[in-house]
Amino acid sequence: MALPTIRELLNSSGPKTGAVARGWIKTRRDSKILSFAELNDGSCRESLQVVFSAENGDFSAVLPSLVTGAAVEIRGDLVASPAAGQKYELQARQVKVYGGCDPEKYPIQKKKTSDEFLRTVAHLRPRTNKYAAMLRVRSELAYAIHTYFRNNGFTYVHTPIFTASDAEGAGQMFTATSFDLTRLAGLPRTEAGEIDFSKDLFGKKVGLTVSGQMEGEALALALGKIYTFGPTFRAENSNTYRHCAEFWQIEPEMAFYELEDDMDLAEDFIKSITRDVMAKCPSDLELFAKYVEPTLMDNLKNITDNKFERLAYTDAVKILEPVNDRFEVKVSWGVDLASEHERFLVEQHFKKPVMLFNKPKEVAAFYMKLNDDGKTVRGMDVLVPRIGEIIGASERENRLDVLEGRMRDLKMKVDDYQWFLDLRRFGSVPHSGFGLGFERMMMLITGISNIRDVTAFPRVPGYAEF
Ligand code: 4AD
Ligand code: MG
Repeated sequence: MALPTIRELLNSSGPKTGAVARGWIKTRRDSKILSFAELNDGSCRESLQVVFSAENGDFSAVLPSLVTGAAVEIRGDLVASPAAGQKYELQARQVKVYGGCDPEKYPIQKKKTSDEFLRTVAHLRPRTNKYAAMLRVRSELAYAIHTYFRNNGFTYVHTPIFTASDAEGAGQMFTATSFDLTRLAGLPRTEAGEIDFSKDLFGKKVGLTVSGQMEGEALALALGKIYTFGPTFRAENSNTYRHCAEFWQIEPEMAFYELEDDMDLAEDFIKSITRDVMAKCPSDLELFAKYVEPTLMDNLKNITDNKFERLAYTDAVKILEPVNDRFEVKVSWGVDLASEHERFLVEQHFKKPVMLFNKPKEVAAFYMKLNDDGKTVRGMDVLVPRIGEIIGASERENRLDVLEGRMRDLKMKVDDYQWFLDLRRFGSVPHSGFGLGFERMMMLITGISNIRDVTAFPRVPGYAEF
């Protein structure tokens, strides 16, 4: 039977006899006449204090099993609590132990454990306050994102995960095949001796999508404003605090939007979802401010209250070049700015989010619209403190001849992209979009500094446990 959660019990409008709570014991302490247990069910940061008094029953046999990690059901009376910081406590009358827990072996102990250790027990770390809070915030953030787009006239679309198009043209696609690659000798071969993917399930070589953008463009050029929210995959061997091989991306795409409209949307979107989560998860965010990132609340205010700086690439270079001695990679016009440069701009120079636009075409994706100068493109990155790039965006090249020329220059197989070019052949319009990395947004909102700790089961180089 569905029972009220502890969150609901703690928000009750009054005391209640015959209340039931189920969850996991966080801690128990005993005094001479009373015992107290903190019971948490994951519904909120707060635990319900359960009081065991000899007046209400003989708990001496069951108390030793009420150890950290044990799963229990407690029946009793919800009464106003004399203790500070909690409205109610539960006076136990009956206890049922679902599953015991050996305190010697249970890896989740009250004492502070490191993030590195907790990653090795990712199946149990959601039982800690921090990771449960992270997962609740993750859920609220996803909901805030859907709410934002829903309130602004967007259609939620689903783009494929198996795809033959490398949407970023960066060669980071995982190959997906129905062939048994452990038996290479048995695989069909072309005359040239290569694996013959025309005999594979899809009749061609496919991979896992790196981005839903291209299919998103097709849908935007029919529905006007769309967004995707789904998993994307990149086989980049980047062992950093901000890269995952599997991450979720939110990709809005809008017909008739130029780059400036795209920037307005991206800024409003980031601010709006940040405010929304701040309003919905005050207690969980307070936990992060207390135990993870002391400057969190100021950082979030910095996002919501400041106008993002809009900075052309050429102007960024003028700021960075004079301080080149700080950087590992020296900046000059044409260099692809790296995390160290991005972070200098946002953390040291502007001290607020920056929207960096008009980068050189040599360091840009093939689909970004070429500016009239012939050198830069209408692409844009949103950079934020502590993380660097959180959004990659652009106005799309909507001129058939220019796009085809660019693809040829990049030695792309133009024939494979005919459907994408059709969007420029038939009723082409200016259009723009962006991709927000969901995990990076989670890092921003929680102050958690490693991407491995903002997703329940991270997929990173050398690691795919669970
Ligand atoms: O800048 P990216 O590569 O842009 C695109 O994929 C475009 N197709 C988006 C679009 O215009 N529709 O990736 C977008 C965002 C990045 O800014 C970053 O936040 C995140 O996705 N991202 C990653 N997050 C975690 N791990 C990785 N390996 C990531 N690569 C990109
Ligand atoms: Mg990018």
